[in-house]
Order: sequence, then structure tokens, then C-alpha cells
Amino acid sequence: MFKILTLNNISPLGLDRLPKDRFVVSDRMTEPDAILLRSFKMHDMAVPGSLKAVGRAGAGVNNIPVDALTKRGIPVFNTPGANANAVKELVIAGMLLAARHIGPALRFAEGLTGSDAEISKAVEAGKKSYAGFELPGRKLGVIGLGAIGRLVANAGVALGMDVIGFDPGLTVEGAWQLAATVKKADTLEELLRVADFVTIHVPLMETTKNLIDAERLSLMKDGVVLINFAREGIVNTNAVTAAITSGKVYGYVCDFPANELKQHDRVIALPHLGASTAEAEDNCAVMVVDEVRNFLEHGNIKNAVNFPDVAAPRETAHRLAVANANVPNMLGQISETLGLAKLNIHDMVNRSRGDYAYTIVDLDDPIPPDLVRKVAAIPGVLMARVV
Ligand SMILES: NC(=O)c1ccc[n+]([C@@H]2O[C@H](COP(=O)([O-])OP(=O)(O)OC[C@H]3O[C@@H](n4cnc5c(N)ncnc54)[C@H](O)[C@@H]3O)[C@@H](O)[C@H]2O)c1
Repeated sequence: MFKILTLNNISPLGLDRLPKDRFVVSDRMTEPDAILLRSFKMHDMAVPGSLKAVGRAGAGVNNIPVDALTKRGIPVFNTPGANANAVKELVIAGMLLAARHIGPALRFAEGLTGSDAEISKAVEAGKKSYAGFELPGRKLGVIGLGAIGRLVANAGVALGMDVIGFDPGLTVEGAWQLAATVKKADTLEELLRVADFVTIHVPLMETTKNLIDAERLSLMKDGVVLINFAREGIVNTNAVTAAITSGKVYGYVCDFPANELKQHDRVIALPHLGASTAEAEDNCAVMVVDEVRNFLEHGNIKNAVNFPDVAAPRETAHRLAVANANVPNMLGQISETLGLAKLNIHDMVNRSRGDYAYTIVDLDDPIPPDLVRKVAAIPGVLMARVV
């Protein structure tokens, strides 16, 4: 039986994928094999010695002591892309909110008083202030063509927009998923100069902090609509409010309200709703549960933030999984230890990422516990486990 400790509510759609004859799940549990969580802050928690995996139903892992867990050979799984559709839909809504002045128009309608006849008269007199524009033929610039950016780019194409994207780290797999008509910008500046809508889908890092500042705003087309459902710090708030005041920017749609933004009529700031759908929560739970189960039962790693993806089909009943430092001769020492015990290696897969590596060894015969201890004692081995 594997013991799973939940530190937050995890959607039953995910938890139901753990067969009851092999997994016991509880929010109170000693010696768990794995922890599942969403935003629970694990930093102050004593990490149980029994722990083999941590699964975060969501993308960010700053609530988890990843470095400390890595040193113990514990993978931290997350769910990249599981909330991408939820964010994409809000970006489309954001474009329409800005193009059709829906916020101010709603406020106008809500403020109407008098008889129905008087309201009708006021509507006809007032509606011209909220005339908007349509999306087909407009140019949509997508910064970052990851899980969310790709869906936004393809949705833009489906809406009849002319889409241009910029992502120096675009993967081949990612490029395959893009609609063929999405154009590639070679530089960010190239995209900024031509787009009517600029939407940002990059992570917040040192290199993307203040990515959209006064200088980059000055390159944009007059009347551009800027959309930020990524992170607050990627757009410089002072610069964008100044650009709205000067008329350079037509509207700013974001997921991050702040005092300075609230004062502007042409700012639409939502309360961090990007991933807030029941479906996104379910998708995250399903994905993280599958990842953790696959690791516990087969030692396969997919979507860990601290170890490479490593997976192998099971060809024998005896598997050894090893997390180790990425240093010379680790594989030699592991196979020598197994060879000295006269165990025949049927198959072996090893991948490294940065300072760490992960190895799966399938053997023809059972692996005695003292041999696992010997492998675990090799300097640089962080974890060794029979799966
Ligand atoms: N508003 C919300 O509730 C919400 C929800 C989910 C995600 N997000 C944010 O959206 C971001 C994107 O999510 P994702 O799932 O698409 O991530 P992802 O990792 O799949 O994609 C990010 C992409 O950005 C690219 N990139 C990095 N630096 C870049 C740069 N300087 N210029 C251009 N491209 C660059 C990367 O190559 C990658 O392809 C997340 O990092 C997160 O901050 C917000």
C-alpha cells in the first residue's frame, strides 16, 4: 500500500484515479510515500523520512522546498499546461472586454434610473460612447508560445486575426502545435511594432521582469491593447498607466489589480482569475495524480521540476530506480555494484538535467535489500528504491 498525504483539497476527479487496494489517501497521515498539495506552504514543515514524491496540482512550486527535496532524491511534480485553456479563454474575453468597452458600458447600464421608457431613451442617447471595434483582420502579437501562448495564438487565428508570435525558446513540439498561419517574429521589437493587441505569456524571471517598460511601450502602435495574464512584474505599472494617459495605449487588460491601475477607465484588472475554473482544477488534479502514481508504481518521471523526464516500459518484474548527482562514473559504479552481486541488467535508462540525473535499471532477478543499501551508499547517489 502507498500512503498519500493531501495538504490541500485535491479534486476527487484526480484522487479517484488511485486504486483503493493499492493507495490510501488522507489529510492526516504519518510516514507518507507522497504528498499532494496546491498552495500549502511546505517550507516550515518537517519532511518525513518516508517521503518519495511531492505532487503540486498547479504550475508554481515556490511553496515547496525544492532544493532540499532534490538533495534527498525526491522529485517534485507539477502540472504544466493543465490550466492553459482556462487562461486562453480569459484572454479572449479580455480582448473583447477592451474592444467593446464592456466594463464602462455595464457600469453605464447599471446606473440607469427612471421608467423603462426613460431607460430606453437614455440607452439610445448614451450607447454611442461605447462603440467598439471588431477582431478579424487585427494583428495579435503573442509573447511566449508555451502552453498558454500557443492556445491563444491558435484562438486568434480562429477569430480571424492575423497572429505573430515571439518565443526564442519555442520547442519543435510547440511549433508543431501552432496554426500554420502564425507568423514568427525574430525579435520582440519586431512584434511590438506591428501588433494591435499584445498579449504576454512568459514566466516571471530576472530576464522578463519589466519586459514591457516605457521604452518598449514607445515602440508599440498607437492605440495598442496590452493584455497581461502572466505575472504582474512583467509589465511596468507606472509606464503603462503613463502610456494610457498619453493615448499611446488604448487599454490594459490584466489579472493584477493595483491602486494605480484602478484609477484608469481604460484598465480592466481582474482579480487573478486566469486559472480559476473548475475544469482547470480537475485537470491539474488528474495530471498530478497520474504523475505521482506512475512514479510510485513504476519509478517513471514525467513533469518533475527537479529531475529529467525518464520513463521505460516494464520488461521485467524487478526494477531499481536511482536518483543521483550528475557526476562522472555514476552508471559505472551502479552497474558494477549490481554485477558483483551477479545480477544481470536487462535494460538501463539514464537521463541528466543540470546537476542531477535519474536512472532506471531493469533486472532479470530480484534485488535483495542489502544490495539496494549498497547502491544507496555510493557517493553521489541521493535515493535508490526497488519499484
Ligand atoms: N493569470 C493566471 O492565473 C495564470 C495562470 C497560469 C499561468 N500564468 C502565467 O502564465 C505564464 C505562462 O504559462 P505557460 O503555461 O504558457 O508556461 P510555459 O512554460 O508553457 O511557456 C512559457 C513560454 O515562455 C517562453 N519565454 C520565456 N522567456 C521569454 C521571453 N523573454 N520572450 C519570449 N518568450 C519567452 C518560453 O520559451 C516558453 O515557451 C506562467 O509562467 C504563469 O506566470 C498565469
